[in-house]
This record gives sequence, structure tokens and C-alpha cells, in this order.
Amino acid sequence: MTKNNRTVDVFSPFDLGSVHLPNRVVMAPMTRNRAGPGDVPGQISVTYYVQRASAGLIITEGTQVSAQGQGYARTPGIYSDAQVAGWKTVTDAVRSAGGRIFLQLWHVGRISHPSVQPNGAVPVAPSALKPAGQIPTAQGLQDFVTPRALTTAEVATVVEEFRRGAACAKRAGFDGVELHGANGYLIDQFLRDKTNRRNDRYGGSALNRARFLIEVVEAIVGEWGAERVGVRLAPTNPFNDIADSNPAATFSVVVNELNRFGLGYLHIVEPLPTDPIAAGEKPDIRFFRRIWRGALMGNKGYDLARANTALREGTVNLVSFATLFLANPDLPERFRRGAALNAPDRPTFYKGGEKGYIDYPPIGG
Ligand SMILES: Cc1cc2nc3c(=O)[nH]c(=O)nc-3n(C[C@H](O)[C@H](O)[C@H](O)COP(=O)(O)O)c2cc1C
Repeated sequence: MTKNNRTVDVFSPFDLGSVHLPNRVVMAPMTRNRAGPGDVPGQISVTYYVQRASAGLIITEGTQVSAQGQGYARTPGIYSDAQVAGWKTVTDAVRSAGGRIFLQLWHVGRISHPSVQPNGAVPVAPSALKPAGQIPTAQGLQDFVTPRALTTAEVATVVEEFRRGAACAKRAGFDGVELHGANGYLIDQFLRDKTNRRNDRYGGSALNRARFLIEVVEAIVGEWGAERVGVRLAPTNPFNDIADSNPAATFSVVVNELNRFGLGYLHIVEPLPTDPIAAGEKPDIRFFRRIWRGALMGNKGYDLARANTALREGTVNLVSFATLFLANPDLPERFRRGAALNAPDRPTFYKGGEKGYIDYPPIGG
């Protein structure tokens, strides 16, 4: 890894295995709820991603690997032939525009609602624990329901769904995949002990709680090879009513297990000062730099100056930007020119059709 390299900045190229990135300004995964019927990405999403093809790497919005893995309306899937064909139009267009694109593989677990589940079933989770709060649905905000705990045998079925999703992503022409292990969704629900109270081999010790993630990574790596696979983790993010009694202890075990694969990168949603940490060291980005043996991508609240500092210090190899990329389709060029940035329009983050999706102006537009 590059350490204390004064010459590295966001404009430096980076070789992610055999994928050559012309810069280190990564577009972070963002759910935008604009998929068409059948949860197929349509022409509007082709336009959205092509507009952002100057990113060193695009990571798509979270994309469910099964109908059961869906939590919100109009999020795209990667399990039907129509979804594969829809995504193929996206990857072809991004590639023609000179870009690179990884698909984020997603299963929401308990962060769902019967109104988006097959046959109105209750969602599944490691344990039958109802999240606090409400979820946006087509009928407005509704209370979460108590999920059903996956049986030990069913866990293998979900691993297989991730494997199939990864295989579908390959058919759809992606450059690689990122596994969504962050932000309180299914994999994170297994990792952190507030949401995992299982007493089979997937619960209890940190190693047992990491087992589901590791089995999924093994399955995906089997389809793609390790260097085309990234994993995203959020060790302290409390979003979706999740916590761990000692995140540094849990995530050092997780990273130790992941180290043996030689993955393309580890992507960290970094702790905020306000994230509650019950016990143990704060697992900040430096903590991961010490224990992770590979490319490290930082995320959360970065601007150009902070990204360049972290890259020069060698704390990270890549930085992802979510809200800044959402509002600035030409973000690398704006950084290069020191141009003003468009402000993100929050009311259209998760709805609004073309508005707030494909109508952010380029520089001078
Ligand atoms: C509209 C929106 C949708 C998001 N959807 C996802 C998602 O699908 N998958 C994911 O891992 N993170 C998702 N996130 C989190 C972002 O990737 C990122 O971690 C967060 O916004 C902090 O980065 P930023 O400070 O650069 O905005 C989303 C964030 C936003 C604003």
C-alpha cells in the first residue's frame, strides 16, 4: 500500500486488481427508487449513471438479490432475466462513456415490510426482533413488523441467492460487485449483536456472527474472483436500529476473516462522533488501515481537501462520495477546476422521477 505519498491525490489513477481507475473519486452506492415495473432499471437510470461515468468507479445503488431481499418500493433487482437485461443497458452505456461500474448486492433482511414482500409475508432476519421506528412504503410511513428468524437451513438458501445475484451481475456486464454489509441490512444484522441473538453456528461469538458474511463472500468470489469483489461495512452506524456491544472487537474478527480472500477493496462507512460506541476502541478508518491487508475505501462526509489529506497520508487508497456525486454528475471535473458545487435536493433523494435525478446541471450548465 502507498504510505505517506505526497504525490497521491484524488486525481491519481489506481489499479483495483485488473480494473484501472483513472481517478480515486468513487461514486458511493445510493438508493434512488427509480426502477421501472418488475424492479428493472430503465432508460432514466441509464442517463443517471452515464452522467456520472467520469467517476474513478461507480458503485450502483443497493440491488436486491431476491424478492425477499427488497425493502423499499422501486429499488432494482438482480435476479430476473428482465433485470439483467435492464442493467446490461446501463453497463453498456457507462462503458461506452468511458466509465467503470460495480453492482452493489443487497438483502435488506428485517428492514422491509409485508407490502413489498412476496405474498405479503413478514420479512426475514437473523432473529425475530422488530426494528424500532417506521419504514417508508407506497402507503406512506408504516411501523416495522416483527421479522421471522431464518432457520439454519434457510441461511444456505440466502447465500445461494447472493451467489446467483453475483452471477447475474456478471451476465449484466458489470466490472465487479460490492457486497452491502453495512447500514443495518441483512449482513450487518448478522454481524452486530443487538440484532443477532441466534444460538446456531451463525450466532454467539464474533466468528459465528461473521460466518454468514464469509459464506456469502466465498460464494461471490467463486463467481467473480476475489479482486473484482469489494465489501462495504459500517461498524458503528446506528441507522436501522442496530448496534454492537464492542464494534472494534467484532470488526477485527470480521476483517481478519476477510483478509484471507485478497478482495479488491474494503469500503468503510466511517464512524461519526455522534455514533454510540458501548465499549472498546473506536473503529475509525485508521483502525481498519492497521488491520486490513488490501485497498481501503473511505466514506462519509468527505470533501476534496479531506479526501486529499487522507490519500496523501495513506489512510485510504480510494474515497467515495455519495451526496456530492448525487448533486454533481461531473464531480471529478469540478474538483479539478475548483468549481462551485450544486446543492443536493433532499426531497428528491428517494422519489421524484427525473427531478433531482438526471437534471443536476454540469459545470456551466
Ligand atoms: C440518497 C442516498 C441513498 C443511499 N443508498 C445507499 C445504498 O443503497 N447502499 C449503501 O451502502 N449506502 C447508501 N447510502 C449511504 C451512502 O453511500 C454514504 O455512505 C453516505 O451518504 C455518506 O456519504 P457522503 O457523506 O459522501 O454523502 C445512501 C445515501 C444517500 C444520501
